[in-house]
Amino acid sequence: MTARVILGVSGASGAALALDCARVLARIGAEIDLVLSPMAERTLTLEIGPGAQEALCGLATRVHGIGDLGASIASGSSPVAGMIVAPCSMRSLAAIAHGLDDNLLTRAAGVQLKERRPLVLLAREAPLTLAHLRNMTAVTEMGAIVLPPVPAFYLRPATTAEITAQIAARAVDLLRLAAPVAAAWGQD
Ligand SMILES: Cc1cc2nc3c(=O)[nH]c(=O)nc-3n(C[C@H](O)[C@H](O)[C@H](O)COP(=O)(O)O)c2cc1C
Repeated sequence: MTARVILGVSGASGAALALDCARVLARIGAEIDLVLSPMAERTLTLEIGPGAQEALCGLATRVHGIGDLGASIASGSSPVAGMIVAPCSMRSLAAIAHGLDDNLLTRAAGVQLKERRPLVLLAREAPLTLAHLRNMTAVTEMGAIVLPPVPAFYLRPATTAEITAQIAARAVDLLRLAAPVAAAWGQD
């Protein structure tokens, strides 16, 4: 059976991470259920350009409206393998940490936690307040994986594209759906 993965995109900096995660998921043959927050739409345009949202939607199997709390992925009964939020803003992180389920992205993330499925959050902010750190602790205690999108300096990336592609590959690998795709230290 083809794995179905939810890709949530919030309005933190790092919109390229969303595109790279979608590319990696497509490469491993996963179906992508995409949900974008309004601020994600804005950062995609600001950071990448006017065609970015269309390119991202083009990689998805299904695109859901952020307000559509009746979408299939709002329910634990949907056969979903897990979810990546890339990038994950501190607002979405806080909503997930406190179980607000206040839009389809945070609801779908909450569903992964209640169903004990993998949830990978590419939480981006700098520097971090105590609230951010506490919310990261809370989601970790509930079973989510916080993967801050920091470069793998030891791989000596030459471009930001190399950095975001590596982080996206690590995020997808953490779902453990296929053989690892991320470059690893010590690999020939
Ligand atoms: C260009 C830009 C960059 C931003 N970067 C971040 C960021 O790195 N981390 C963050 O938590 N919020 C960031 N924000 C603010 C969020 O977009 C804002 O808090 C928003 O309410 C997040 O809502 P969402 O989680 O529903 O997308 C940024 C906003 C803009 C316009």
